[in-house]
This record gives sequence, structure tokens and C-alpha cells, in this order.
Amino acid sequence: MKIAIGHFQFKINSKQELTPDEHIKTEVTLDKIIVEGGHPLKGQVNISGAKNAALPILISSLLTEGQNTFTNVPNLQDIKSTLTLLKHLGARVETHGHTVRIDCSNLGNHEAPYDLVRKMRASILVLGPLVAKLQKARVSLPGGCAIGARPINLHLKGLKHLGAAIELKHGYVEASAPNLRGDEIYLDTPTVTGTENLMMAAVMAQGQTILRNAAREPEIMALADVLNQMGAHISGAGTSVIKIKGVKSLHPVSTRIIPDRIETGTFMVAAAMTQGDIEILNCEPGHLSGLINRLRLTGADVTINGNIIRVKGHDLINSVDIKTMPYPGFPTDMQAQFMTLMSVANGLSLISERIFENRFMHVSELKRMGADIRVCGRSAVVQGVPNLSAAPVMASDLRASASLILAGLVAKGKTEVNRIYHLDRGYEAIEDKFRKLGAAIKRVA
Ligand code: EPU
Repeated sequence: MKIAIGHFQFKINSKQELTPDEHIKTEVTLDKIIVEGGHPLKGQVNISGAKNAALPILISSLLTEGQNTFTNVPNLQDIKSTLTLLKHLGARVETHGHTVRIDCSNLGNHEAPYDLVRKMRASILVLGPLVAKLQKARVSLPGGCAIGARPINLHLKGLKHLGAAIELKHGYVEASAPNLRGDEIYLDTPTVTGTENLMMAAVMAQGQTILRNAAREPEIMALADVLNQMGAHISGAGTSVIKIKGVKSLHPVSTRIIPDRIETGTFMVAAAMTQGDIEILNCEPGHLSGLINRLRLTGADVTINGNIIRVKGHDLINSVDIKTMPYPGFPTDMQAQFMTLMSVANGLSLISERIFENRFMHVSELKRMGADIRVCGRSAVVQGVPNLSAAPVMASDLRASASLILAGLVAKGKTEVNRIYHLDRGYEAIEDKFRKLGAAIKRVA
């Protein structure tokens, strides 16, 4: 069942209007996922393109003139929201399966409105490229979300260093900069989207920009690679010091989105939990060393062969502590899933969340399924239990949704996961992929 909780329509520019299908509707799907536990996963699963790489890369097309072609783009709600936003700004967008073509030669708008930004925080990523390309941008402030306050002060501080005038008015960031100039910017925290926003702002600034304490996630490297293919001069991406020499203009590219490391990690944990034996295809094991290391300590067999990871789970799961950290540390986007694994491990584990201040929303739902977890500030103590028992549960955010499905895969009985629209934002056809691996899982309206 679907309900519309609001809708509105944009006129794009004189040349392009949204088709009736694309008239933007903010829809909340009330579908549920029903999972019956107790089926070990076996077989092979293909990994989709990375959501968090695709979002900034699709948005980087704002900087170019002409048609870009992106392949391996995952079919996700957040991607649809991004394309809707790009169309709103005046981009021509064509989608064929996992290939997306974007032409931003005729941008007619510099505003990202509240109704789009509130659906997807990553919309803030248009701020840097719009200022670089159009010398101005008006982007709704994203506000907090379920996992934390998530301020954008470092994005704004960086843009000011580059010479942008920034005002906050009526819930919007208004930025203008007739001439962006390179500068040295220190990020107090290595913010992922902040680093991406500033890289995209700086590529066409006059002179050199140096980002210090930059985020080092693979998605940053993927974006820098694409910007360099477009003609940018970026070095050091993947380290904490990124140097960007401004160029006059960028040209379109044809490029492939890297595999999703968090989707990969979610299937790895699923195999370990269900005493399964699966091969995960088309992934990038080099992006997952933090998780691979911890998963091996739990007793799972993890073997790597090129871009295939095989995970074999065993009866006994050892308890292992984790602390989420910026890359290459253990990813916060895998914390909920790993906690679910620990909830059926043998012994006590300590899970410390160091990135977001409120990313334990899944705990109360896991407890309803029989998990023994105590939260104290930004740490959780998990005492493994022999079994979880199925229950109706409510997803609170994307990764929490995935953790509840994992719990359902081992719980006795049928677990009903509600509010799975969170899941559709970031996992492509997850129930189909699990079903092909032998899980008893279905989506019901
Ligand atoms: N922070 C600030 N000021 C800023 C920006 C960030 O204080 O201006 C703080 C945040 O509050 C947080 C920390 O810095 O405590 C790190 O946040 P970051 O900015 O790195 O997060 P993000 O860029 O908003 C991206 C991913 C998240 C992922 C985090 C951390 C995208 C679109 N989103 O968010 O992905 O959890 O990095 O790795 O890339 C998800 O996919 O489920 C997801 C939430």
C-alpha cells in the first residue's frame, strides 16, 4: 500500500518539464518485509553500485557541459531523489536500467527546495557544484535526522574559505561567489559529504585548494577519480590531505560506479549469522578490511578471490568488540548489522559508536526480539543469547532496517519488519537477493 503525504510539481525550464510519472510525489510505502528465520544462506549474490559513491558522482555532472554516462547506478530511492533534484535544477536525465545519462548544459535553477532536501540529506551535495558553476546556490538546510544532529557547519566553513558569501535565511543556505579562490581548509572532523562538497566547489576555483583532515572513504576516491576524468587536477584523495588545482572547465565522462561496500558487508554478516556459505560477487574486498578483520575474529571463514568474497559461518560465533571510526576504521554504516550478529554470539561484546550520537535506534527493536543489550551513552554492551524470537519490529533508519532483517533471518518464527521505505533508500532489491540465497523472505503490501 502506498500513501501520498504530499505532492508538488516543478516546471523545469522552458525546454523540459517532468513527465506525469515524474511529478514529484513524496510517498511513504507501507510495505512490510516478513522473514522466517532458520534458513542458512547458500549460493551467490551480486553487489550493486554504491549508493554513497553514486550520489556525489551523479551530482558532479552539474560541473560539466554535455552528456555524462554513468553505469552500474543502483536502483534506489535516494538515486531517484537525486535525479529528481538534478532535473529540478535543469538537467536532462535519461535512465535505462542501471545506466543514467545526465546533461547539465542548460541549468536553469540554483535552488534545492526543502521538500527535496528533507527526503534526502545528501541533497546538500549540490551546494558546492552549484556555487562553482552558477556562482550562486540556495539550498534548504537539511536539519537533523534519526541518527544524529548532522550539522553542515564544516561544509559552510570550507565554502567561506573559498570566498563564498554565506547567509542562512528562512531555513535555506544562500551562497554566492563571483570568483571562488583556492585556500587551505582544515576540517575539524573528517566529514564525508563535506569533503565531497568542497572538492566539487574547489575544482574550478582560482589557484590551489588544500583540504586537511579530509575524509578518506573509498567514495571520496571514487568522486576524485571521476572529477579527474572530467579534467580536474585532484591529488591525495584517499589520504587526509587533498590538493586541488583549479581548472577553467570540466568535460563530461562515461564512468562506472564502484561496488557498494555496505551492501557487501551486510551480506557478509548475514552469511556469518545463518551458518551460511555464500559467494559475494562484484565487490571490492579492499574497501572492507575493517569488517573482514572483525568478522574473522568472530570465527567466520572469509576468503577473498579477486572481486569475490566467500563467507562461511559456523555454529559458534565469538563475541568481538567494535568501535566505529572514519575510514579505514570500522564503518558506522555496519554497526547495526554487526550488533545483530553479536546479539547471538557467545559472550559479551562492547559496541562503541564514535561517528553519530544517536545511532542505537535499532537496540530497542532487537531487544523486542530477545536480544540482551544495554546502552550507555555512545556504547552498547551486548550479551549474546542462544536464540532470537520473531516479533513485529519497526525500522528507524536505513542500516537499522538491514539489521532487523538480519535478526529475522535467525529468529524463531516470522519477523515482520515495518517502515521498510528506509531500506528502499539504500538496498537494491534486498529481499530478492536474500530469497535467491535461500532465505524465506517476502515483501507484503
Ligand atoms: N559533522 C559535523 N559538521 C559537519 C559535517 C559533519 O560536525 O559539517 C559531523 C557529523 O555530525 C558526524 C561526523 O561529522 O558526527 C561525520 O559525519 P559525515 O559528514 O562524515 O557524514 P555524512 O557525510 O553526512 C556520510 C554517509 C553516511 C555515513 C557517514 C559516515 C553519504 C551520502 N552519507 O554521511 O551514510 O554514515 O558519511 O561514514 O555519503 C548511510 O548510507 O546509511 C549513511 C548514513
